Amino acid sequence: MNSQNIVILGTGGTIAGRACSASDNIGYTAAQVSVAQLLAAIPAMVQTGPVIVEQVAQIDSKDMSFPILAKLAERVSHFLAQPDVRGIVITHGTDTLEETAYFLQTVCQPAKPVVLTCAMRPATALVPDGPQNMLDAMTVARHPGASGVVAVCAGTIHSALDVQKVHPYKLDAFSSGDAGPLGYVEEGTPKLLRNWPSANKKAKKIAIEKIANLSSPGDWPRVEIVMNYVGANGAVVDALLAQGVQGLVVAATGNGTLHHALEAALLQAQAAGVRVVRATRCLNGRVLPKSGDMLVDSKGLSPVKARVDLILRLLK
Ligand code: SIN
Repeated sequence: MNSQNIVILGTGGTIAGRACSASDNIGYTAAQVSVAQLLAAIPAMVQTGPVIVEQVAQIDSKDMSFPILAKLAERVSHFLAQPDVRGIVITHGTDTLEETAYFLQTVCQPAKPVVLTCAMRPATALVPDGPQNMLDAMTVARHPGASGVVAVCAGTIHSALDVQKVHPYKLDAFSSGDAGPLGYVEEGTPKLLRNWPSANKKAKKIAIEKIANLSSPGDWPRVEIVMNYVGANGAVVDALLAQGVQGLVVAATGNGTLHHALEAALLQAQAAGVRVVRATRCLNGRVLPKSGDMLVDSKGLSPVKARVDLILRLLK
């Protein structure tokens, strides 16, 4: 038995959801069961070694906010600094897991493993997927050499950079796109396909104390996402500009293409001092920059992750 602690932080989600009937997999309320109760229902979890449990939030992840993310980052940093802590498991809703994963990797850049896990079926389901996901996450958090923020779901390990929810119902709801998964967990053993995410030593970390003081969502830079589509125009950009938006991520078509009317409005916003970033609305791949581009690209980040990235950059 590994004697180092694993910290399990609860934030809610379907993994902690309750429905009135065991056969109901969609009509449940998320974030009803405490993380301590979830743990108590899986004796094999405690058999892997000592655990510390803390409920950081209890929400449906569609309602995730930057103040909660900042609190989560503070708890993650606090526990990672303890020499007797081997790693952290975070239970989270699937809907915004990829944004939290990217936020924590960028802000904490952990040298120890921080493993987000989740479920697509509520805790009350006939066959809930949460317990196995939690056990697999625990296996990864205890694995020698594991590091960085990863997500574990349906036996697959994804890096924070690549993970994306791609299905609203299937148990295997996540993909790492072109990069492919980091690995798999098979019968309690992680099988790695590529290296663990490493801390970006060159990147200047954002001070946890600085973001901890931003306790209201209004304290955070306002960055919105707009999309290019058939018949797109600049009306939404103009309205956001009038409201004082500080950053815009555009989910562009294909290799970053934009309807000329939307592009004109974005260039005007950029000229007025708004930071504008171009991502692609394609599920896989990235915008490949070319000479003459007037809007920077997201360097492979999806629109939602590019937004998190821009918010953090505006804070610096
Ligand atoms: C949530 O994201 O909190 C609800 C949906 C889920 O966890 O699958």
